[in-house]
Amino acid sequence: MKPLRKAVLPVAGLGTRFLPATKATAKEMLPVVDKPLIQYAIEEARAAGIEQFCLITGRGKTAIVEHFDIAFELEAVLRERGKTEAMALLEGTQLEPGAIVTVRQQEPLGLGHAIWCARAFIGEDPFAILLPDDLILGETPCVAQLAAVYRETGGNVVAVQDVPREHTNRYGILDIGADDGRLAEVKGLVEKPAPEVAPSTLSIIGRYVLRPEVIAHLSRFERGAGGEVQLTDAMAKMIGKLPFHGLRFEGKRFDCGDKVGFLEAQIAFALKRPELAPKVREFLRHYCPA
Ligand code: UTP
Repeated sequence: MKPLRKAVLPVAGLGTRFLPATKATAKEMLPVVDKPLIQYAIEEARAAGIEQFCLITGRGKTAIVEHFDIAFELEAVLRERGKTEAMALLEGTQLEPGAIVTVRQQEPLGLGHAIWCARAFIGEDPFAILLPDDLILGETPCVAQLAAVYRETGGNVVAVQDVPREHTNRYGILDIGADDGRLAEVKGLVEKPAPEVAPSTLSIIGRYVLRPEVIAHLSRFERGAGGEVQLTDAMAKMIGKLPFHGLRFEGKRFDCGDKVGFLEAQIAFALKRPELAPKVREFLRHYCPA
């Protein structure tokens, strides 16, 4: 079995739910506390042993690429002024030269189309997908949990969580077979089903480990829900041909593409920081007296 060394991070969406913030700034550059969403995703993938990254970008997203480059002037000034603490904060932005490549999607035709744009990068290798607006707080990084399952089962593995039935029309939903309460065999997939026809309430969140065979299915450009080329539809074509599992991952997921999810993530991540937590707790009491 080939080891998991590659990750694709689609960042070409329009981010309409965050306008006007996302008019000239990429949604993935919005910070949670002091780190942009994209950096959390790259750090999570690196913690799972992933070494090569492909960002699917679009117009107006160049700041993301700059973020992982050397900031020559800034670093020179910080060195000159002896600001070693500030220098240390840049550590997670410094990757091996050549570790990140970018591909332009040109038109946001859907997540499936975005992944298809990475076909040359993927080649014949298994790969992870991280949607940076899903931010996960937990002991073991979510992609590392998926990678561990992939090493056992091979095939495709997706991170899943239960959602309220009235929300099934926002997610890719699983129809499941054998299920041990942690790992469920996938026997069907539907993108954004109406609550009354959803086969379950187990939804796919923004973390996947997929086999490269998915590209052949995406190449047909079949339009699905919302008129977009849906990744879920292409994945569904592999069911029965390859092992396919949904993992109820350990950790809490925040949907940072949504305003309330983004605000909740700020609080949750700030409360994990010893230097911030007491002050945050104090001001929260002021806004929300018991
Ligand atoms: P979303 O559904 O969150 O869409 O995309 P969006 O455009 O980012 O945000 P809203 O809904 O308009 O506010 C999920 C992920 O897929 C990527 C997005 O960048 C995000 O990471 N995506 C989506 C693409 O890269 N290309 C697409 O054509 C669509």
